[in-house]
Amino acid sequence: MGGRPRPLYERGFALDKLIIKGGKKLSGDVTVSGSKNAALPIFFATILAPGTHEIHNVPFLRDINTTIKVLEQLGAEVEGNGNVVRINTGPIANFEATYDLVKTMRASVLALGPLLARFGKARVSLPGGCAIGARPINLHLKGLAALGADIKLEHGYVEAKAKRLKGGRVNFDIATVGGTEQLMMAAATAKGETILENAAREPEIIDLGDMLCDMGAKIEGAGTDTIRIIGVDELAPVTHRVIPDRIEAGTFIAAAAITGGDIRIHNMRLDHLDALVFKLQDAGVEIINRDNVVRVKGPRRPGAINIKTRPYPGFPTDMQAQYMALMCVADGASVISENIFENRFMHVSELMRFGADITVEGNTATVKGVKKLSGAPVMATDLRASASLILAALAADNTTEISRIYHLDRGYESIEKKLAALGADIVRVKE
Ligand code: EPZ
Repeated sequence: MGGRPRPLYERGFALDKLIIKGGKKLSGDVTVSGSKNAALPIFFATILAPGTHEIHNVPFLRDINTTIKVLEQLGAEVEGNGNVVRINTGPIANFEATYDLVKTMRASVLALGPLLARFGKARVSLPGGCAIGARPINLHLKGLAALGADIKLEHGYVEAKAKRLKGGRVNFDIATVGGTEQLMMAAATAKGETILENAAREPEIIDLGDMLCDMGAKIEGAGTDTIRIIGVDELAPVTHRVIPDRIEAGTFIAAAAITGGDIRIHNMRLDHLDALVFKLQDAGVEIINRDNVVRVKGPRRPGAINIKTRPYPGFPTDMQAQYMALMCVADGASVISENIFENRFMHVSELMRFGADITVEGNTATVKGVKKLSGAPVMATDLRASASLILAALAADNTTEISRIYHLDRGYESIEKKLAALGADIVRVKE
């Protein structure tokens, strides 16, 4: 295996920007990378079983890099070569994930359950808020306490201890993705049976459950709202292939839709995107799945269709910003309500710089479609907001500059290269 994965997020990338000349209809073929939101918990699950795990179809993203840094901080040895990463968690001898890393990627809190399960102790920084909301982890901590963990919050850190976690019943107030993943991992080697009620149902949770079962865990119901876990004494390292990234795939579907393009998307799971697909088809987008290649033909102008974001299998909050960009050029007015995060309309003011007509009342945005957007200098604020600005720029007249695109590098592998290969006029330049 080659050396460590190339450090994607280097100083030089911090101030890159994208220059996009809009008006091109996308065409051709694009391949979706592995899922960021499946890979992150899967990487942390390797802590549960000492030895070398081999993870395939890993997307090269800033968040993967950060996760590797957290695992190395704990003492794991990590090697990467292309989209295959080998993680040896045998040498782990440190049980602390520090603030400097956790604050850059909140999913690092997923180290907590596995460290507690394997070593009986963990000290993990609280992640702090982020652009889209406060995003507390109270449900994670309540669940771990229900399995017998002694949890203390001190100086911005979670200090957790447990001789051995014991099975218990956990009922989540909110169907939390991270909380469900945290508890699945912690319960896998707890003594006795654990029942998770009102669990999140995302495909990424099914993928994590599949990997844990391959490691020897006894888990039923991943992907439903009730998950049953019978604790086992130990788990073994595995080789696992990460599922395709449904949000990256959805973003390319939206790119074909907003440019009136005709593209073919490879290595995606259309069944992971039902809610999005039904809404886009209502808006006039043609989406056909033939021999595992998804063909997307955008309409001359999309219809205006309302959405409400919901936990899976409802409309994904991670596609709300991209969908809003499409509705900015729709034939009519649409109402978009964000029901998962309290502050996920950061893209609205930037989209209005393109000439979009959007009014926001609380968690609801009303978008009045305009015939044409016009390019402007804009700034990315968070991962999916960055994607929505790219979509608007692809459809806009003349040229757009998007700054602070390090947000993009967190969740999209070389999106500018993939879009250029589809005929977009897009270049990445250093600020
Ligand atoms: C995961 O975040 C995803 N991240 C997010 O994707 C995604 O938007 C989110 O799920 C919802 O689908 C990863 O998987 C790494 P939650 P997570 O716990 O687990 C509240 C992206 O763009 N909550 O399901 O943090 C929380 O504040 C990212 O790829 C509590 O109140 O989301 C939110 O309002 C953004 N207490 C709601 O639940 C808790 O203990 C859903 O959060 C936990 C969550």
